[in-house]
Amino acid sequence: MGRVLVTRRLPDGGLDPLAGHELIGPKPGDEPYTADELRKQARACDAFVCLLTDRIDAAVLEAGKGTLRVVANVAVGYDNIDVAAARALDIVVCNTPGVLDETTADLAFTLILGACRLASDAEHDVRAGRWHGWGVTQYLGRDAHGATLGVVGFGRIGRAVARRAEGFNMRVLHHARTDTGLEGYVADLDAMLADADIVTLHVPGGAATHHLIDARRIGLMKPSSVLVNTARGTVVDEAALADALHDGSLFAAGLDVYEREPEIHPRLLSAPRAVLLPHIGSASRATRTRMATMATEAVAAVLAGSVPPNIVRA
Ligand code: GLV
Repeated sequence: MGRVLVTRRLPDGGLDPLAGHELIGPKPGDEPYTADELRKQARACDAFVCLLTDRIDAAVLEAGKGTLRVVANVAVGYDNIDVAAARALDIVVCNTPGVLDETTADLAFTLILGACRLASDAEHDVRAGRWHGWGVTQYLGRDAHGATLGVVGFGRIGRAVARRAEGFNMRVLHHARTDTGLEGYVADLDAMLADADIVTLHVPGGAATHHLIDARRIGLMKPSSVLVNTARGTVVDEAALADALHDGSLFAAGLDVYEREPEIHPRLLSAPRAVLLPHIGSASRATRTRMATMATEAVAAVLAGSVPPNIVRA
């Protein structure tokens, strides 16, 4: 039996696979562990169950040299973990692939529809008492049905979004680093951005995709187009996006993720035609419970000497 740090509160049932192990955390008020505390726990624990908000960097992993055997992130993304450092120290890293695809694709579509139809601006007016009755020229959005959708990154979540788009009679294009061989593949990202009416991002975070959508690429998009990001905030240059929304060179944006969460660029907060959600892509009760269980099952497996299916091999 092992000693497992669980950094934050998990959905009910999420810890069941760790029955019999000694659990440390979460803190009574569910506050995050500081970097110092994580290093200290790494020296004393066999395993971490952590969230994408916990920074598991080389210093934390090195502190766990010889003790820490597995770090399981309750997330599919793992840009908060220094996977190369973990590999060098023989620490297994696990994530939660596959179980959140449909839920996250639902949210991407929520943002596609909400941004196209200016849902946030309209709702704010209603709540603020600024709506004084139906008007034929009010809140004129753009149609999502029939639009050209550009999907950037065509893994499981990108494909789940593309499937939904078929039902909206969209023309669906996609870009990925390697040719998918599928209909709609566009090798040149710039060309796809210039062609699409709606662009939705589904690439991982990290250095390789940092500011993939920068000022130049936002400038390639049509002024009537919409950008949606449910991937990682770092993929988009937030300041450049805010500028484009303010000056009208981009029609609208739907964002669930931000460069420096929970901070949001002040010019994005004041930007018109932006739907801003607080990183809730996978936040249905069923999916978050499944994610927690998948992470804790992986820890139980590693501590029992077996190999879980969800090891990060990147
Ligand atoms: C959420 O952003 C995740 O990576 O699971």
